[in-house]
Amino acid sequence: MKISVIGAGNVGATCANVIAHANFAKEVVLLDIKEGIAEGKALDMWETSPINSYSTMTTGVTNDYTATAGSDITIITSGIPRRPGMSRDDLISTNAKIVKSVTDSVIAHSPDTIIIVVANPLDVMTYCAYLTSKSPRTKVMGMAGILDTARYRSFLAMELGVSPRDIQAVLMGGHGDTMVPLPRYTTVAGIPVTELVDADRLDAIVQRTKKGGGELVKLMGTSAWYAPGAAAAQMAETIAKDERRIFPCCTWLDGEYGLKDIFLGVPVVLGKNGIEKILELDLNDEEKAMLNTSADAVRGVMKVLDDMNLFS
Ligand code: LAC
Repeated sequence: MKISVIGAGNVGATCANVIAHANFAKEVVLLDIKEGIAEGKALDMWETSPINSYSTMTTGVTNDYTATAGSDITIITSGIPRRPGMSRDDLISTNAKIVKSVTDSVIAHSPDTIIIVVANPLDVMTYCAYLTSKSPRTKVMGMAGILDTARYRSFLAMELGVSPRDIQAVLMGGHGDTMVPLPRYTTVAGIPVTELVDADRLDAIVQRTKKGGGELVKLMGTSAWYAPGAAAAQMAETIAKDERRIFPCCTWLDGEYGLKDIFLGVPVVLGKNGIEKILELDLNDEEKAMLNTSADAVRGVMKVLDDMNLFS
């Protein structure tokens, strides 16, 4: 199992580090355009292998895509992060060109690779990688739902004073303020969350989740990396081990949920082929309306990408 992580910034380096520690891949290649950064970070990681007892070889390269050849999974983290006052959508003009050129280089050396996009604006950058790669929809996906659900679950764990491990939840929609956490599909060790948290508190947690990325940008002056990196690594691990775990992931919809020709977060089964299956929940009218609002927001940004004429 060979995994490449493109971009050795905070998210890419964290992701590679989590993958290496999990010890399921033979090799992780970290690539960056800045001379020496990926080499340095990969070597530093490799030097933790005797301490942390893993065998995954981490290597770093400066913009040399030949080193990524034959990757089973490629995680694209390249692009500029958010700064305070920016929305994820503000990044599109810069990041679309980067994601397109990175995807071209990735596919040239690993035509069959599964691609996990992490760059923002997430749903539309996944669309950009999909258009560039011309790979089947099962093989190009975006990481957002695991991150957003993790934030939601971690806030609920704090509220209840219980382990986050016991909180299960579904969250759908785009990776933005219109995302749709679903309390009706949230349980605490099998107990519906609505029996344990009153409606006002639950709503406050839902609202905090929707702005969870922004909360961290305000605190740190740049966007988060520990949870985004770990979330992308979890997708890679599930695919690598063919575990068929269920996660919300950004995937191309072709009529599911009444939505077509759009990348959006929905629950999927992840396995060795990538998106093995899309799960269609029986949403109520209110949930459907929130999902449609989120889809409209993503379509607005998809149009910005289309109007850049990168693919004409
Ligand atoms: C976040 C960025 C990575 O949500 O989108 O933290």
